[in-house]
Amino acid sequence: MVAPESGEQPQPALMPSSPQPATGEIGIALLGCGVVGSGVAELLSKKASDYARRLGRPVRLVGAAVRDLARTRPGLAPSQLTTDPLALVHDPRVHIVVEVMGGVEPACALILAAIEANKPVVTANKEVLARRGDLILARAQERGVGIYAEGAVAGGIPILLPLKRSLVANSLSAIYGIVNGTTNYILTRMAEEGAPFARALAEAQRLGYAEADPTSDVDGHDAAYKVAILAGLLANRRVPVEAVHREGIAQLAPIDFAYARELGYAIKLLAIVRRVGERVDVRVHPTMIPDSHPLAAIRLVTNAIAVKGDAVGEVMFSGPGAGQLPTASAVVADILNAAEHLERPGTLMAWPDPTQAEVVPLAETVSRFYLRLRADDRPGVLGSVGGSFGSHGVSIRYFVQKEGSGTQAEMVFVTHPVREGDFREAIAAIRGDGAVREIEAIVRVEEDV
Ligand SMILES: NC(=O)c1ccc[n+]([C@@H]2O[C@H](COP(=O)([O-])OP(=O)(O)OC[C@H]3O[C@@H](n4cnc5c(N)ncnc54)[C@H](OP(=O)(O)O)[C@@H]3O)[C@@H](O)[C@H]2O)c1
Repeated sequence: MVAPESGEQPQPALMPSSPQPATGEIGIALLGCGVVGSGVAELLSKKASDYARRLGRPVRLVGAAVRDLARTRPGLAPSQLTTDPLALVHDPRVHIVVEVMGGVEPACALILAAIEANKPVVTANKEVLARRGDLILARAQERGVGIYAEGAVAGGIPILLPLKRSLVANSLSAIYGIVNGTTNYILTRMAEEGAPFARALAEAQRLGYAEADPTSDVDGHDAAYKVAILAGLLANRRVPVEAVHREGIAQLAPIDFAYARELGYAIKLLAIVRRVGERVDVRVHPTMIPDSHPLAAIRLVTNAIAVKGDAVGEVMFSGPGAGQLPTASAVVADILNAAEHLERPGTLMAWPDPTQAEVVPLAETVSRFYLRLRADDRPGVLGSVGGSFGSHGVSIRYFVQKEGSGTQAEMVFVTHPVREGDFREAIAAIRGDGAVREIEAIVRVEEDV
């Protein structure tokens, strides 16, 4: 996906008749003027002369579509505001449409309308791309219109353009990282202060890092949208968000962070994409990674993404994954890229293969697992749990029995790499063991990230 640039093959047959003269002012429509949109308006206004000098022609904000006309929008005159985004898309003064309203509809319909009008689209909307990217990119490709989405995956961190252009000489084998700042903030508080999940979440909400309804972040939806987009770039094919295995962080307990530390691990909500032959393994879940791994040091709301390529080895990008000006930095870069290539749209933003990538079923993936359970503290229990593991081919790398409460004991295991399906069958057998009272935590362990 993303960003056509100069030097890409032109598409004479598909090239639309450009609505843009070769010189002159470039008009921008902002669909949405909230956190990101107002940051974009601020940069376009404050740095107008710098952008005009770099581009060779001025970039001007024509107008912004919003829901509430009564709200003051710093830097925007009331005459620039409208509640009719479609009319703004079709305004002849507009050459580039910037969608920063969020959600699937009407964002998708408006993006399609811009494409039909041969106007390049810049969006920071991961949800519309993860859910409707196939439709949007197919239409854009048919018409030779550029779609730019750098702000959608990791806010201010450049990742889509580096993947599509700077790393194009590589076959990519894996992309993994921390792509949600809210959950990384919560996990940092839980790890460093022993805060329970609810307290760390409340703190994130108080500081404005988490929404009043935090579901999209804490249940991993936001990260799943982003990893679906990244998986599409790795596979060069569409990866629907529904195919992403997703787990959130709400079930993690402070004690698991303490045990992880004893074992030399940090716990992160990791987005993982791996090439497995012709298929992709794509998931988002809490993951224990070695303390020494660079991702373990990514604290609070910072994001980081590591990419493995056959020529480059491993590169890592880190920085602010959200926020007004960091995200506007990515969106305005896309606007300037789009402006530079108005007359020469390319095809790099699309998946070369229009078919859907095949995703490895979770049961076939291989991981190590951390398991914490509570069982009756009496002879024979460990042997019985070990027997369930053994009969499903799960071998144990580490085991410790912790101080229990009265008649029960807490047991912590870390397995060797095992097929997820085999591990789940072993867990089902252990659950059926009358002496095991509760499976309290299961966290995948990735040592080879
Ligand atoms: N916030 C971040 O740090 C961040 C980072 C990366 C990506 N993003 C993505 O950027 C997009 C925008 O996020 P945001 O945080 O800026 O959202 P936001 O603050 O809620 O702003 C949304 C804007 O869209 C307008 N809007 C919504 N529906 C509309 C409709 N049907 N017609 C006209 N205007 C409409 C709203 O109008 P009113 O102002 O009148 O309500 C508001 O101005 C989302 O896709 C988000 O995922 C955000």
